Amino acid sequence: MSYQFSVERELTDYRNFKAIPASGALGAYIEDINLNDLSDDAFVELKEAFLEFKVLFFRDQPMTEEQHVAFARRWGMPQGPGAVPQVEGYPQIKDQQFDELSSIGSDVNYHSDDTFRDYPSKLSILRALATPPGAGNTIWCDMEKAYDALSQPLKDMIDGLDCVHDLDKTFGKVILEGAGAKGWEDMMKRNPPATHPVAPVHAETGRKCIYPSKLTGKYITQLSDEESQWLLDFLMQHSYRPEFEVRMGWEKDTIAMWDNRCLQHRGINDFSPAFRHMQRVAIIDELRPDRHPETQKPLAFDPTLDYVPVADLYSPENKPEMTYGKRTTDEVTDDKVVVKDNGEDDNTPVDQKFWDKINSTREGVTFTSGAAASVKKIPGMFRGMALKSIFKEAKAQGKTQIDVAVLQAVNEQRQAG
Ligand SMILES: [Fe+2]
Repeated sequence: MSYQFSVERELTDYRNFKAIPASGALGAYIEDINLNDLSDDAFVELKEAFLEFKVLFFRDQPMTEEQHVAFARRWGMPQGPGAVPQVEGYPQIKDQQFDELSSIGSDVNYHSDDTFRDYPSKLSILRALATPPGAGNTIWCDMEKAYDALSQPLKDMIDGLDCVHDLDKTFGKVILEGAGAKGWEDMMKRNPPATHPVAPVHAETGRKCIYPSKLTGKYITQLSDEESQWLLDFLMQHSYRPEFEVRMGWEKDTIAMWDNRCLQHRGINDFSPAFRHMQRVAIIDELRPDRHPETQKPLAFDPTLDYVPVADLYSPENKPEMTYGKRTTDEVTDDKVVVKDNGEDDNTPVDQKFWDKINSTREGVTFTSGAAASVKKIPGMFRGMALKSIFKEAKAQGKTQIDVAVLQAVNEQRQAG
């Protein structure tokens, strides 16, 4: 039998698992399945369910990193090291840890993953390792439904438009403040903006969606600044509403996988100071977002590769000037972004509460007030990762009190690296 969801919606009955709709718009909980032991037949069906529901949720799927990568690899080519740190030994797994000293940052605005690259992520497979009870949910918004709900004249207009996707829209200010002009320039060299149609066509389903996002949709190339701002504001306001959305609460060993070609998502930062630990594999889209994807020659990858570097996800005319090397959680995201000594000396006054807080992060290690003042200036979303580098450097210098010299040493390594 089919799950009868509404008069307009009759859902597929799957042979290998159950698909329980998670909202009226999109999403399904997939039950009676073991992702570590998936037959080819079940995998084929899972692909069908993925296209039907756009975001799939799986509870109680404990996985090792190895198994996460193996499952992801069945869907395509993983993206290599990028702006998010990776799991040691697994350059294709992005490690996202947030605690009282760092914050979710990038994910609080609606977005699709990596639209600031020419070849964004086709799909993301996110695994929860530690979750704050009840908090830190994620919302996904069906941007095809949002497109469908537009009137025909507006559809006709946006069909011909293109939007620049730029990290600067959300991160420009924090990076400029935290890392100065040089840090900002480096970020832009690593992550040049990409231009995509406002309403690209999904290569597998043929459906159109609203593609610009609140996080990276900067301006529409064919319009004046005022028109562009007005249209983007309207499209966002029109799209992000509960009728087009599904919200899911994470538990340890929950996995969500979603289609970045037609959805946007955002994390909800209501859990600080609790600890939240997630790991994500991003599968590369071999096609750029396009009005006519059927006419495009897909990127071809050497199938023996474990992942493809981010620098290869740009067209030749839009290559980044700098590439990402291998990074681990002990290293840091964007060089130069993280540690600024800001010319503090070790006696610079600092907010006592903050000082106490970072003094308690690692047993037996304290900060001078000046070092604490500098750490406080690191944007929240980079702070947790920056601290890892700082602790590492202190250890290398044999110091149990972190002073400005430790920060300067970390900074110098950044500049050199
Ligand atoms: Fe994301």
